[in-house]
Amino acid sequence: STIDLIGAPIEIGTSEPGAVMGPAALRTAGLLRVLRDLGFTVRDQGDLDPDCTPGQRDLPAIRSWMTEISQAVETALDGGSLPLVAGGDHSLSLGSIDGALRHCGRTGQAVFVLWLDAHADFNTLETSPSGNVHGMPLAALCGEPGFDDLFDGGERPLLDPRRIHLFGLRSIDAGERAIVTQRQVNVIDMRTIDEFGVVAPLRRILDRVAAANGYLHVSFDVDFLDPAIAPGVGTTVPGGATFREAHLIMEMLCDSGLVGSLDVVELNPFLDERGRSARALVELVASLFGRRIIDRPTEPPLEA
Ligand code: ARG
Ligand code: MN
Ligand code: MN
Ligand code: MN
Repeated sequence: STIDLIGAPIEIGTSEPGAVMGPAALRTAGLLRVLRDLGFTVRDQGDLDPDCTPGQRDLPAIRSWMTEISQAVETALDGGSLPLVAGGDHSLSLGSIDGALRHCGRTGQAVFVLWLDAHADFNTLETSPSGNVHGMPLAALCGEPGFDDLFDGGERPLLDPRRIHLFGLRSIDAGERAIVTQRQVNVIDMRTIDEFGVVAPLRRILDRVAAANGYLHVSFDVDFLDPAIAPGVGTTVPGGATFREAHLIMEMLCDSGLVGSLDVVELNPFLDERGRSARALVELVASLFGRRIIDRPTEPPLEA
């Protein structure tokens, strides 16, 4: 099967420069080679380059990115391949999820989102303490008010907040917390992971998507990981996922066969230490696409 690698070097959604180098760092860390070694046909679509004025950081500029990313993702899906969007800051998910929604609007599948992130990214222009759009994509996708400049005013598919699963949450702003609760977004926060581990909560999510014959978009923000293993991100939050937790999540996602599209976002090579965050991400992506330690049942019978 085929994977379309779509580079989205956007950083105007953040105040910390450097994410523009994310796609290049992921390629340098061997993303293409690793996927090809797993037997995939990988088409590197290069980096998108929407034409907005240099220095332009407003919603219309984000909209240019969103439109291009959405079209690239929808084209990949229509052609039967799996889009992997390499960022770039998290505002790129406006485009990737919009593309998935448009595609699924025709197939009739319900779109579910697994948001692996320290943050909820559910701020509106009103609730955001920073004004950074990478903290807002889910609110915009779900149709919260104030984002008209992001859209052309035409029909657009909305994301159902009750089909979003935030996973790894440990930093949320007061205003966005109220919206997340009110809109019934599903939250597996770090407290839940500490109590139950990653397996039980993730299995419930995957069972739900499978039961609905749904489509799963996975959005992987580097800051989901603990800063000790992934320092290359502008918004580190202590107490993140360990490599082994993240690795297990990737293996479970692979086994589920449900993943329709993937974002890898917020990698900031300028803040990284000798490429270790980029390398960790490539390892994790490899696991999501089927690399396994050894071929065996994961739970061998005790008495043989
Ligand atoms: N909640 C904070 C804000 O709105 C941080 C968001 C961080 N988002 C991210 N994709 N890293 O500014
Ligand atoms: Mn389509
Ligand atoms: Mn984050
Ligand atoms: Mn994020």
